[in-house]
Amino acid sequence: MAEFDVIIIGGGPGGYVCAIRCAQLGLKTAVVEGRETLGGTCLNVGCIPSKALLNATHHLHEAQENFEKMGLMGAAPTVDWAKMLAYKSDVIGQNTKGIEFLFKKNKVTWLKGWGSIPAAGQVKVGDEVHSAKSIVIATGSESSSLPGVTVDEKIVVTSTGALDLARIPQKLVVIGAGVIGLEMGSVYARLGAEVTVVEYLDAITPGMDAEVAKSFQRLLTKQGLKFVMGAAVQGVDVAGEVATVRYKLRKDDSEAALSADTVLVATGRRPYTAGLGLEALGVEMLPRGQVKTDGHFATSVAGLYAIGDAIVGPMLAHKAEDEGMALAEILAGKSGHVNYGVIPGVIYTTPEVASVGKTEEQLKEEGRAYKVGKFSFMGNGRAKAVFQGDGFVKILADKATDRILGAHIIGPMAGDLIHEICVAMEFGASAQDLALTCHAHPTYSEAVREAALACGDGAIHA
Ligand code: NAI
Repeated sequence: MAEFDVIIIGGGPGGYVCAIRCAQLGLKTAVVEGRETLGGTCLNVGCIPSKALLNATHHLHEAQENFEKMGLMGAAPTVDWAKMLAYKSDVIGQNTKGIEFLFKKNKVTWLKGWGSIPAAGQVKVGDEVHSAKSIVIATGSESSSLPGVTVDEKIVVTSTGALDLARIPQKLVVIGAGVIGLEMGSVYARLGAEVTVVEYLDAITPGMDAEVAKSFQRLLTKQGLKFVMGAAVQGVDVAGEVATVRYKLRKDDSEAALSADTVLVATGRRPYTAGLGLEALGVEMLPRGQVKTDGHFATSVAGLYAIGDAIVGPMLAHKAEDEGMALAEILAGKSGHVNYGVIPGVIYTTPEVASVGKTEEQLKEEGRAYKVGKFSFMGNGRAKAVFQGDGFVKILADKATDRILGAHIIGPMAGDLIHEICVAMEFGASAQDLALTCHAHPTYSEAVREAALACGDGAIHA
């Protein structure tokens, strides 16, 4: 039995970042992880592998659509699917080994196996029980399916199976127009699959600024994705190699069906806490399955903490990382803090979509007086040079004080551009602060400045 200051259960972005920071702050730290490799869902079967496939297929699409326009002649590349999957696996390997290296460097112990908490202050891994002053639940989340849908990870898949299909689908039905559905739908549409997305609501990407969502759906449709909106999936039947997705249109209750060789179920994720022994410990849970925590990540059991997808808030790797770092500071006797008002969200399609802070709909609902500054990438020379004039930057600022309340970008490198606005928001900046900051020409970031100018006396290139 080994004794630690902190044992963290789960080696994903929340857990491993928390561990490294704990160790850096002088705490004797261990991480329990049962997967063969560290990094959790994000590195093994989520963010990182999907970005590898998005990158490869983006280049394919560029070659097909744009090379000739630039005088780059010759046949477009063909796809070696096995090789593309091997590239993806290599990217995963490099990242997961990187975390192992960081653990060694920072002297974090990796307890290999699945952990449970037999009593307060104890963590069981295999036959061994370890003790710790503090225990952190960082066990993440799992895909949540639908009633009437049986996932086999071959024909009916979650994001995990979608990253490792035996072959490129001819017909793919995606259930759910959220982040996973649209990222993976884009990958397979670019690879030539006929992709239909079936969504319960009337708009894609719930919670996103409505103007951006509308423009996003239009651009995806232009890329060949089909959408069936306002459709509640009732079930999926599999016969041999063919899956039939049955749905009901909400507007008139009419029933219809779509057949496909592959079905991706992307209807959300739920906290993964099974097998930890939380019930026996009497840990208070929330109705939707999250561990209940106070403002400092403490659960209802003394010495037991929780972060990331296992607690409330957006299920995002970077949110979990921030919570991991903040908790490490708290456990080391310092003050840790997460600003939940400034957590960016990014969708890595082409164009990318990114947002931070309030949407226009939220501001209306709150009855706040606001102003909107918008700028189209059509007015941005750099974007036009690379055929990425679609999309815009939208900045929402307080009408009286000009303080930035939110920003929404659809366009090239949106996922990176958004961070300029995140930093500005952290500093309580006004739109004018952004507008008065010199931005290099020619960069995509000029579109951010122009949107900020549009909050005041007007953009220059609009
Ligand atoms: P999501 O919550 O983003 O979207 C699920 C969609 O499925 C919703 O639009 C919902 O209305 C729809 N839906 C639910 N039931 C349905 C039914 N019966 N019929 C038709 N449509 C139905 O969930 P998603 O895409 O599975 O992602 C899970 C989590 O992973 C999210 O929290 C997301 O933020 C995170 N994630 C983040 C990524 C990123 O930051 N780039 C990438 C991938 C996942």
